[in-house]
Amino acid sequence: MQPSLSNPLRIGLRQERVIPPQCLIIFGASGDLTHRKLIPALFDLYLQRRLPSEFAIVGCARRPWSDNEFKEKISSKLFEKISDNKDEWRIFSNYLFYQPVDLQNLEQVKDLASRLSQIDKKQATHGNKTFYLSVSPNFYAGGCKALKESGLIEDPKKSRIVIEKPFGRDYSSARRLNKIVQSCADESQIFRIDHYLGKETVQNILVLRFANTIFEPIWNRNYISNIQITSSETVGVEDRAGYYESSGALRDMLQNHLTQMLAVTAMEPPGKFDPEAIRNEKAKVLQASKLANEIKPWECCVRGQYGKGGNISSPLNGYREEKGVNPNSTTETYIAAKVFIDNWRWQGVPFYLRTGKRLPKRLGEIVLTFKDVPVHLFESTIIDPSPNQLILRIQPNEGATFKFEVKSPGSGMRSRPVQMDFSYDESFGEPSDEGYVRLLADSMLGDPTLFTRSDEVEAAWKLYTPLIELMENSPWKLPTHKYESKTWGPPEADQLLAKDNIFWRRP
Ligand code: BG6
Repeated sequence: MQPSLSNPLRIGLRQERVIPPQCLIIFGASGDLTHRKLIPALFDLYLQRRLPSEFAIVGCARRPWSDNEFKEKISSKLFEKISDNKDEWRIFSNYLFYQPVDLQNLEQVKDLASRLSQIDKKQATHGNKTFYLSVSPNFYAGGCKALKESGLIEDPKKSRIVIEKPFGRDYSSARRLNKIVQSCADESQIFRIDHYLGKETVQNILVLRFANTIFEPIWNRNYISNIQITSSETVGVEDRAGYYESSGALRDMLQNHLTQMLAVTAMEPPGKFDPEAIRNEKAKVLQASKLANEIKPWECCVRGQYGKGGNISSPLNGYREEKGVNPNSTTETYIAAKVFIDNWRWQGVPFYLRTGKRLPKRLGEIVLTFKDVPVHLFESTIIDPSPNQLILRIQPNEGATFKFEVKSPGSGMRSRPVQMDFSYDESFGEPSDEGYVRLLADSMLGDPTLFTRSDEVEAAWKLYTPLIELMENSPWKLPTHKYESKTWGPPEADQLLAKDNIFWRRP
């Protein structure tokens, strides 16, 4: 039976590439990411008729489940999504298999190799394999070695490894990990995933900049006064304290998602739309980025940790009261940093990056604030006329807004700000795909454009090295300030910008 498509525009506007026969092997199949993001994304690809019929998904984890038990576990977790598409799910679940594997046990990885040969024959997947490491980062190096030793990634044309973030804990561990991974597989086989690059709106920054003539001439230090990049979440740490306690907002969000948004916003135009040309430009701009004050990093960064909040009917725990969190934890759940890019285009333009959990809104946006006009000829209806702003909304309500001044109606000559708006939803009649949909498809297609190359990952860690060293060696210089849950972070983060006479945008 053919899957139904809810919206005919999905076929009309989309131009999709065909994924070749494929076996996708997910390590960490009993984990959160698998049922929250990966399987739903694969099911979406199936509903969009983008999966080949010669296909298999092999879940791997230590639990001794059978194929059927795995299917049942996944179905129970995806109840809502499945109940709207029961028939399609029944067909899709024929692609699901399970093999108990401990990645640290070479014998078990070898057993997996023989199971994969059987599945390859049964599903006619032509020997094409994509291995997805959705396991603890401690197992990335050992996992790649085990795959190599069991001969599973021998053929660079037929096998790939997708590696989740965080890739390393700092610059030197990322370099070490790169060396190990590259000794097991060719760089062309390695797909370091950052799901923000899969978001339609992050990719749209490239199109907005390089498919229009009007933006590029003003996309530089001559016209732009500052850029703010925000990713805020309403949720707290949930049940991920085990991972988050040793990660914190710097390693969880700033070094990867926010820094990738910075790279796409600030990179030079590539010579052509080619994976390496794009990644060269991203790597170059990251290599030119530095903290605004590398000698005194505490002056250009603020850390915070959420405290209690909410109201009497729904009180919210503070971070230190969350399950699995050390009651004296100093892990940051909020971080703001000021970064400069030392190149011709951006010299002197501050980039302010912030991210936090338990903030008032779920939001991702990039705000380009333009310089003030040289002479104010007109009175403004507000005391301080607002400068032009281009706001790129990454999520939710994906789209863009341009703020500019117009004449206020009436006999005087007053100006007031108005906005012009573009919304993906309204223009295309469908919400954009989850980042994982695009990235899973790209990894199986072997297209590395939206994945981070080794030099990019290293440059992104290097950028934050002074902060990481400070947090490790003299943490008292960069304290984690408390902020009430559901507020916009600690007041110190406002002061970081106030010093430059700037305010965070309050969306
Ligand atoms: C993940 C982080 O990479 O991104 C999470 O580990 C965070 O802590 C998530 O919640 C945010 O992603 P999104 O797509 O919901 O903004």
